[in-house]
Amino acid sequence: MVDGYGREINYLRISVTDRCNLRCQYCMPAEGIQTLTHDQILTLEEIQRVVKVAATVGIKKVRLTGGEPLVRKNLLRFIEYMKDIDEIDDVSITTNGILFPDMAEELKNAGLNRVNISMDTMVPERYSFITRGGKLEIVQLAVQKALALGMKPVKLNVVVIKGFNDVELMDFAQLAYDYPLHVRFIEFMPIGDLLFWDRKKMFSAAQMREIIEKEFTLEEGKRIRGNGPACYYGIKGGIGSLGFINPISSHFCAECNRIRLTADGKLRPCLYDHHEVDLKKALRDGTSDEGIRDLVVQAIQQKPERHHMDRGWGENNSRKMSQIGG
Ligand code: GTP
Ligand code: 5AD
Ligand code: SF4
Repeated sequence: MVDGYGREINYLRISVTDRCNLRCQYCMPAEGIQTLTHDQILTLEEIQRVVKVAATVGIKKVRLTGGEPLVRKNLLRFIEYMKDIDEIDDVSITTNGILFPDMAEELKNAGLNRVNISMDTMVPERYSFITRGGKLEIVQLAVQKALALGMKPVKLNVVVIKGFNDVELMDFAQLAYDYPLHVRFIEFMPIGDLLFWDRKKMFSAAQMREIIEKEFTLEEGKRIRGNGPACYYGIKGGIGSLGFINPISSHFCAECNRIRLTADGKLRPCLYDHHEVDLKKALRDGTSDEGIRDLVVQAIQQKPERHHMDRGWGENNSRKMSQIGG
């Protein structure tokens, strides 16, 4: 379905849980956040119903996010549910990778098409610092497993933070040169745990490219499955690619194709806008499929033209990143 600004919306990001087994500095405080209770989160059956209805208005791709999606019980069954819906042709997850090595085969067998793995650094001490205790070697194993299982494309998410991992840009570029990996450098957004955010820590995509292009030749025109916000380049002579996700320096809202469903059943038309449509209430008060469809249409129509990160996160937006799913 086309929204009020002529954009085709065909992608639903579903946050299946607000819980996480890490505590990334930029995402949540060390003590974590008040998590939702069992009753507050949508059941797998409720989510499946939403996706079935959303598919009738043009949703074709589904991404499972969190918190950390792999901590949600019965996730495999959920992936199978998604794969049973004819219109859905792409089911993916965004994960921190910690539980992935032990679940990889089952995820693949359940029908998972592809995976985006967060790995902000390749230095174990830095990884432990940014995630507050995570073990880098497990994530590296996750990446190897995803590649070995042929989950194409395998994408890495690297949030670039000045004074933390900006010295590793070249190492990540070398990784994408050597392996069939799509390394995406993400501009640090003022969202999540704002105690860690600082404008001075932001590194623009243009600055990143300037550094990388001292050693690598980037080639335009590489298309990678997913149609997300990343802008991809091949690396001359290399195997993988580099992507830049630049929500701040040059927002990509004109090409936005997505809406979000939060774990507590709210449809969120834009990552950076606090307006939401309450689906949970409708799902639990006997509303018909037509009624649910109207709410999905309403959310699509309510999509704002663009985000306003320049104006800050805003007082009336109380959600953390882990409560939206990125
Ligand atoms: P595919 O293209 O399908 O692989 O997905 P993706 O890259 O959009 O998904 P992923 O969850 O890996 O997100 C990567 C980064 O992009 C995260 O930092 C997200 O928060 C960010 N992102 C994804 N969608 C949007 C969006 O609509 N707006 C903004 N500002 N950031 C987004
Ligand atoms: N800025 C940019 N990316 C972020 N992510 C989480 N918080 C931020 C932020 N403030 C990324 C995570 C993960 C994805 C879901 O969003 O690193 O890869
Ligand atoms: Fe967990 Fe992702 Fe937040 Fe890190 S960014 S604490 S992995 S939800």
